[in-house]
Amino acid sequence: MKLTIFAATGGIGRQLLEQAVAVGHDVTAVARNPRNLPATPSRVVTADLATADVAVLQPAIRGADAVLSALGARTKADTGVAARGTKAITEAMRASGVRRLVVVSAAPIGTVPSPGRPHPPRHDPGDGFVLRYLADPIVKRALRAHYADLAEMEDVLRGSDLDWTAVRPPRLTDKPVTGRYWTAYGQNIRGGLFVSRADVAHYMLRALDQPETYRQTIGIAKSAARLPEVSCSRAPGFHDDLRAENQDRRLALVALDDIYA
Ligand SMILES: NC(=O)c1ccc[n+]([C@@H]2O[C@H](COP(=O)([O-])OP(=O)(O)OC[C@H]3O[C@@H](n4cnc5c(N)ncnc54)[C@H](OP(=O)(O)O)[C@@H]3O)[C@@H](O)[C@H]2O)c1
Repeated sequence: MKLTIFAATGGIGRQLLEQAVAVGHDVTAVARNPRNLPATPSRVVTADLATADVAVLQPAIRGADAVLSALGARTKADTGVAARGTKAITEAMRASGVRRLVVVSAAPIGTVPSPGRPHPPRHDPGDGFVLRYLADPIVKRALRAHYADLAEMEDVLRGSDLDWTAVRPPRLTDKPVTGRYWTAYGQNIRGGLFVSRADVAHYMLRALDQPETYRQTIGIAKSAARLPEVSCSRAPGFHDDLRAENQDRRLALVALDDIYA
């Protein structure tokens, strides 16, 4: 496939680029600092997505089968870039006649209010007691601006007529690709607190030609330590409730340790 990868210098972006090149995709990489690119794509386009407009991005997108974006604020000064940059990307895609877009969001965003979704559900059906009532409020307070940016980015997607998918990972790690993780449509993974950047990239590439993921948010996480690991994609309600609650209790301390670390 002909792919355009935005933010190809980031943790997930580098994985997207390396994995896509490795399996033979024809890749155009877009980055604001192209000398930080990890592998040699077919083409490189330099763009700062905080300010880029359609005319700058169109040459990077024209002729692509699909676009992937791992854009996100690296620093406080970058906050807002996910929504602004994704808006520019979607407009450039519409102007170029390219429809497929897969982006990275984050696990808490399903319950974060935004201008386009002012009254989201209070709780994500995939989050257990500890996440809902202890971890989530703390993390959301600490990362309020970052999550508001990602929630507005999802507004941009919903407001477009593109075939978009937003992947919502929990805490990211730098572990190697395994291809073994859980995914769920429209909700987080019960007990899933981590996933590697490499596995998120793996799933994003895999989802490209899966029409069932169009216009969907997808929870993704490594399966919990004591469960058999499988690679699967299930609709909400797949997880057995009792097993999930037990998992929540086991993972409660891990979650709190992680947040207060
Ligand atoms: N960290 C977590 O545990 C976690 C959990 C869930 C979701 N997420 C989300 O996942 C996203 C991707 O994660 P990651 O680890 O791959 O992030 P990352 O390593 O911080 O990468 C962010 C990417 O965005 C690019 N970028 C930022 N501002 C830009 C701008 N103005 N113009 C062009 N490019 C710009 C960066 O480019 P440069 O290389 O030039 O800086 C980099 O390529 C995060 O940003 C976050 O929104 C993170």
